[in-house]
Amino acid sequence: MPVLTFANTKGGAGKTTAALVLASELSARGIRVTMLDADPSGWLTRWYQKQAVTPFLTVQPVCDETIEETTVKAKKAGGYVLIDLPSSGETVLARAVALADRVLVPVQGCAMDAQGGAEVLDLLNELDTRCNVKIAHSVVLTRVNAAVTTRALHAAKDFLSARGIETMTTPITERAAYRDVFDKGGLIHDLDPLEVSNLSRALDNASRFADEVLDLVPQRALLRRPSAAVPLRPAA
Ligand SMILES: Nc1ncnc2c1ncn2[C@@H]1O[C@H](COP(=O)(O)OP(=O)(O)OP(=O)(O)O)[C@@H](O)[C@H]1O
Ligand SMILES: [Mg+2]
Repeated sequence: MPVLTFANTKGGAGKTTAALVLASELSARGIRVTMLDADPSGWLTRWYQKQAVTPFLTVQPVCDETIEETTVKAKKAGGYVLIDLPSSGETVLARAVALADRVLVPVQGCAMDAQGGAEVLDLLNELDTRCNVKIAHSVVLTRVNAAVTTRALHAAKDFLSARGIETMTTPITERAAYRDVFDKGGLIHDLDPLEVSNLSRALDNASRFADEVLDLVPQRALLRRPSAAVPLRPAA
């Protein structure tokens, strides 16, 4: 079953939020999701412990040593496996990238100068050109202001496409719901529309984002590349 890794070595790029937005939407649709929390800060694990969520969604903490075995087991359970990486940790990054059917690189708005996103993209490019290991990947624009989406998004997409970087059409917009869900626990879908502003817009954004992910990485019929040992640093 598909493994999606959320990676950006820049802290605060929106990895955990993007992963939870997707997980919320998939599990609300009845699609099984296993989230692997590779961040020692354990934000997802803490969120999961706050409130019971649908039985379709589970969160398991992982570390350098356990990520491979846990991913293999999670894949057997079916559905999607989402790996949330910390901003640092070369070993866990290399392992999570090697396990991925697609790496999603959350980048805030049009800040492609955000060094971390570029580092992950460089790593993926180097793996391709030097080691012939091709790992599908896309940038996900995050924290996009919905009110100025069009102009900002066009600029960001132009920037990225000029560099040959695939960018998802649907950005993750800046929404109170995506913050509040970490405080309250449960799915974004369980939040109270009377308490959270623009919840319906957040849900709509989550739905469009999930649709695009499902198109990019369908649940079945994945042609897996042969699993590759990804070196921590590609050989020069
Ligand atoms: N789309 C969004 N709407 C509102 N707030 C957001 C959004 N994305 C991220 N944030 C907020 O920005 C901060 C950083 O987001 P997040 O924790 O998802 O980033 P991260 O890349 O996982 O960070 P780290 O590298 O520390 O793990 C958090 O406070 C989060 O609530
Ligand atoms: Mg995080």
